[in-house]
Amino acid sequence: MSTRIKIGIVGAKFAGEFHGDMWKTMHNADIYAIADLDEKTRTAYKGKYSVGKDYDTYQKMLSDPDIDVIDICLPNFLHAEVAIAAMEAGKHVICEKPMATTIEDAEKVATVQKKTGRIYFYAEDWIFAPALVRAKEIIDEGGIGTLLYCKGKETHNGSHSPFAQTIKFCGGGAVVHLGIHAATFFYDLFGMPDSIVGVCTDGLDGNFVHKKMEGEDWGIGILTYTNGPRVLIEANYITTGGMDDIVEFYGTEGVLKVDMTFGNPLTVYSRNGFKYAVEKADTTKGWTKPAVNEHESLGYKDEMKHFLDCVEGSSAQQPGTTAETGLNALKIIHTLYQSNKEKKAVDL
Ligand SMILES: NC(=O)c1ccc[n+]([C@@H]2O[C@H](COP(=O)([O-])OP(=O)(O)OC[C@H]3O[C@@H](n4cnc5c(N)ncnc54)[C@H](O)[C@@H]3O)[C@@H](O)[C@H]2O)c1
Repeated sequence: MSTRIKIGIVGAKFAGEFHGDMWKTMHNADIYAIADLDEKTRTAYKGKYSVGKDYDTYQKMLSDPDIDVIDICLPNFLHAEVAIAAMEAGKHVICEKPMATTIEDAEKVATVQKKTGRIYFYAEDWIFAPALVRAKEIIDEGGIGTLLYCKGKETHNGSHSPFAQTIKFCGGGAVVHLGIHAATFFYDLFGMPDSIVGVCTDGLDGNFVHKKMEGEDWGIGILTYTNGPRVLIEANYITTGGMDDIVEFYGTEGVLKVDMTFGNPLTVYSRNGFKYAVEKADTTKGWTKPAVNEHESLGYKDEMKHFLDCVEGSSAQQPGTTAETGLNALKIIHTLYQSNKEKKAVDL
C-alpha cells in the first residue's frame, strides 16, 4: 500500500458528502475516486472535493488496483453485494449502516470477511460520538451506580433519499434507518438482549405522516437483558425541528443524559434566517440551536480516523465496528420487526 491511503467512495450523495468532508480532514488518506450511477452527482462531487477519477459502476472502480479502501455510501440494498465484491477484490471496506437488508446477506458479508481477511468496518458513528464515549467512561467508573434503564433515540422528519420509500431497497422504515444507531450502541455496551418487544406503525396508510412510505414512520423496541438493564430504543420520521438524538441512562446512584444534536452552547434568534442549523431542520428563523461541529459530535470524524488507524495497522479494530456487530445489530432490528408483526415478545 502507498503511504497515503487511497479511498474509493461508492455513492456520492448525502452520506458520500459527509464522509468526504471527514476524509478531507485526515492527514493520511485521500479520496482517490468515486463511483455513482448518476453523472450529475459525480460531476458535482468531483468539483466540490477535487477528486481525480470517477466511475459509473462500482465494478469498474473495484478493478482499479490503486484503490486501498472502498467506502460504501450506497442505498441499503447494495451494502452487502458491494462489500463482498470489494473484499474479494482485495480491498478493505468501510460500510454505512445497516450492514445489509437481510440477515442472510449480512451473514455472507461476515463469512467473506473471515475468508479474505480484509478489514470490514461497520460504520456506526454513535460508537465514536464524543459525548457517548464520555458517558461510557462515567458509567464504567460507577458514577451512576448499577444501570436500571436506558433509552436511545434518533428521530427526524423523514429521509431525503428516494430509496428510503421502498422496503426492498432499505429493509424497513425509520427503525432500520435510525433505530439501528441505538441498537448498535446498546449491543456494544450490553451484548445481545434476551428478548425484544417491538411496536411500529404499519407503513403506507398505517403511518402517522408518511403515507407513501412502505416502511414504518414510527417504532419502538423494549430490549430485556435478564442480567442487565431494560433498554428502550426509538426511531421516528414524525419529528419536526431537526434531527433529535437523545440517550439517557438511569442508575441506582444517578442519571446521565446525552443530547447529541441540540446539546451545544449556541442559541440563535434570527428574523432573517440563515443557511443551516442542524440536520433535517426546515427553518432557521426564530429561535434555533445551530449545530457546532456536527460531524464531529455525531462521531464521524473519530470513526474514520479509527478506521484509517486499523488499515495502517496502528490500532486494533474496536468491537463496536466489526462485521459481527453489524450482523447482531441487524438481528436486533429484525427481531423488533418480528415482535411487531407477531404482537408478542420474541426471545433471542
Ligand atoms: N450514519 C448515518 O447517520 C447516516 C446518515 C445518512 C445516511 N446513511 C446511510 O448512507 C447510505 C446512503 O444514504 P444517502 O442518504 O447518502 O442516500 P442517497 O440516496 O442520498 O445517495 C445514494 C447515492 O447512491 C447512488 N447509487 C444508487 N445505486 C447505485 C449503484 N448501483 N451504483 C453506484 N451508485 C449508486 C445514487 O445515485 C446516489 O447518488 C444509506 O445506507 C444510509 O443508511 C447513514
